[in-house]
Amino acid sequence: MTAWEQTADVLIRDVQLRRRVHELAREMERVLAGTKQPPVLVGVLKGSTLFLADLIRSFDGHVEVDFISISSYAGGGQSGVVRIVKDLETDIRGRDVVIVEDIVDTGLTLNYLRQTLADRETNSLRAVTLLDKVARRIVPVELEFAGFEIEDVFVVGYGLDFQGRYRNVPDILAVKDIAKLANDPMLLVEPLFLEKYA
Ligand code: IMP
Repeated sequence: MTAWEQTADVLIRDVQLRRRVHELAREMERVLAGTKQPPVLVGVLKGSTLFLADLIRSFDGHVEVDFISISSYAGGGQSGVVRIVKDLETDIRGRDVVIVEDIVDTGLTLNYLRQTLADRETNSLRAVTLLDKVARRIVPVELEFAGFEIEDVFVVGYGLDFQGRYRNVPDILAVKDIAKLANDPMLLVEPLFLEKYA
């Protein structure tokens, strides 16, 4: 067993991701059919970027894309106190908006985003997440579309990071030993090269 395999498991392979993202696009098309203007997909930076890119490529019909970035205040991970670091450029009043998240964990981030965007008088407001860590929820939050329900485990890859790294791993990896990774943040560098675990 290599060092990285002691630290992480492949949880969802890229082929499974592609298949599920395609299905999600179909589900969303059905629900969003007949909107007057193209729906606005709001990517939450930075984790959702790969998911969003694949989702819109699968989407049959016009969509508009915008990005929002929020950050927790110091010590705020569990507090739910967040602020907008980069706001939307689109005026979403009267538009059909879908928030695109990489993962919903405690639900605090999505809850904040839903409230903030709802205040802008959208015609409709929905959310899609690739991953749903439902067991970790602190606040109940509406989620119209979800790719995969996962256990309470820290994941990286396909946009998700650990200290800024591993967003470009093509699969989703479950980190078994987060302390080990914190000690040596380069440990999972091998899975960046697909053939190493093909
Ligand atoms: P929430 O506010 O607790 O629902 O979490 C929102 C954010 O926490 C996500 O958008 C991610 O940026 C981050 N996050 C939560 N769980 C994970 C994980 O397992 N890996 C990487 N980031 C995570």
